Amino acid sequence: MDLVLVGLPGSGKTAVGRRLASRHGAAFIDLDDEIERAAAASVPEIFAGEGEAGFRRRERAAVAALGPPDAGGALQRVISPGGGAVVDPRNRWALFRGRRVAWLDARPEVIAQRLRRSPVARPLVQGPDPLGRVRSLAAARERFYAAGTRINGVADLAGVLGQLEILLASPASGCTTLLHAVTPIGEVRLGEGMAVDALDQALRGLHARRAVLVSEPGAWGAAGETTATGLRAAGWAVETVMLPAGEDAKRLAVIEDAARALARLRLERAEPLVAIGGGALGDPAGFLAATYARGVPWIQVPTTLVAQVDSAIGGKTGVDLPEGKNLLGAFHHPAAIVLDVALLRSLPERQLRAAMGEIVKMAALGDEALFATVEAHGAAIARGDVSAFEYGAVAEVVERAAWAKVEVVIADERELAAKAGRISLNLGHTVAHAIEAVDGYATLMHGEAVAYGLRAAARVGTALGVTPADRAARIERVLDRLSLAMDPLPFPPEAVIAATGTDKKHAAGRLRWVLPTADGYVTRDDVPEALVREAVARVLAGRGGGVA
Ligand SMILES: NC(=O)c1ccc[n+]([C@@H]2O[C@H](COP(=O)([O-])OP(=O)(O)OC[C@H]3O[C@@H](n4cnc5c(N)ncnc54)[C@H](O)[C@@H]3O)[C@@H](O)[C@H]2O)c1
Repeated sequence: MDLVLVGLPGSGKTAVGRRLASRHGAAFIDLDDEIERAAAASVPEIFAGEGEAGFRRRERAAVAALGPPDAGGALQRVISPGGGAVVDPRNRWALFRGRRVAWLDARPEVIAQRLRRSPVARPLVQGPDPLGRVRSLAAARERFYAAGTRINGVADLAGVLGQLEILLASPASGCTTLLHAVTPIGEVRLGEGMAVDALDQALRGLHARRAVLVSEPGAWGAAGETTATGLRAAGWAVETVMLPAGEDAKRLAVIEDAARALARLRLERAEPLVAIGGGALGDPAGFLAATYARGVPWIQVPTTLVAQVDSAIGGKTGVDLPEGKNLLGAFHHPAAIVLDVALLRSLPERQLRAAMGEIVKMAALGDEALFATVEAHGAAIARGDVSAFEYGAVAEVVERAAWAKVEVVIADERELAAKAGRISLNLGHTVAHAIEAVDGYATLMHGEAVAYGLRAAARVGTALGVTPADRAARIERVLDRLSLAMDPLPFPPEAVIAATGTDKKHAAGRLRWVLPTADGYVTRDDVPEALVREAVARVLAGRGGGVA
């Protein structure tokens, strides 16, 4: 067995790791030492010569050089990665899977004091506000460290070692947690094969007495049934309320039936519901949770890529009316969101590809790391390549895109950052919604429509001079690579333009467009109708037939 120790600089990883390793006759591996040895240079020298990018490349190589985790029962290696190594999702994927992970947690005050006393110069505490720097580092990294089992790192060495011995003696769970964040919009856990484990913890946290699962036949077959079996094995009494598959679930009549089923189960006010499914299940299940007994807590276990990166985050719940989609609803944040990427393996290719439309949107809003990841691995994910799951690309994209949405929603909830306003999520949606309306929601999936909308927004933005040509080209190129919004669409341009609300009946300037900039977005309410006309005509003509 291997143990990975994570925590801030000064959390005691080296002292604790060496002691634990020698006690068990195991090897202690300090990843920064390995990097220095391979480079024949010190970490500061590598930073000076190769920059941070060079160091991070070497760090990835050092993680890869560890090889597969030791599968035996005895402790073989104690691995201490540098404090920042686990910020990279792929490093966590390679380090945490198949290994025990412990987080040596100590309050920033304790860390700052220890670092100040350290005989080795610690750059982190050399500035004017050492405690402030440690605090902000702790805040930025806690969600990565908290994927491990929390060890009280303030205890004396014997106490810390005692807690680690208990962890080593506990049975292996066989699942991997990659991220755990406590946020104002719910607890977020991300990992592989950890849905049951995470649900178990979330239900305990809510003092649930049973697991009431709400699902639909498609998600149930792919993910719900095995989750229910796992929960039963963990000692939970499980009840199930089944909604219809697809958009059919988003009807008020379905909510009434489901609410009556909950009444028969005598669901009480504080009892949580667990929604297992894609967006078409999460929306009505969340609405049920928002309204039953004037609101009960709920936990989301999204089972589609769209749901994991988008619909499960943000608290928007609701049902459709014959007059329009999502007309009836409520904001009701889940208490916990469980993102288990293993559940996505059974998704059909078309769904994966369509979801990439929303993911490109999040990237184009200014998440450079997500953009680069989508450029490198998006096509493999869209094809449903098994390898994209195996080497962690799916987990990385889900983490980056889901976290980008978490940040937008949190910023908006607190109205802290006008720049990160929720309106940004409408990038590409002006034309997407219009296309979907003209399509009667019949042939295109939402993410596919968003891809057309993104191309339109890039063209409008370029014409207005807010989107640099190279940014627009980059957005178009990544959509090309994903084979999204390529085909001509058989809809009359006039109908689509009318559906955007830009037609003459509406006073100019009422419609707020979100347009990409070099590294983010702006909103504009002065997009001339002629420009919309041109952009819509171009995207409807498809990639082959459009004006160059
Ligand atoms: N609340 C929000 O903020 C928000 C955001 C975006 C979209 N949405 C809503 O989400 C809905 C679309 O969600 P969706 O794309 O997830 O569709 P969906 O929930 O209908 O799922 C698509 C299909 O996949 C099946 N399925 C689910 N999980 C599976 C799995 N793991 N393996 C194989 N098949 C599986 C389902 O049975 C269904 O047939 C729309 O109703 C949309 O309005 C809501």
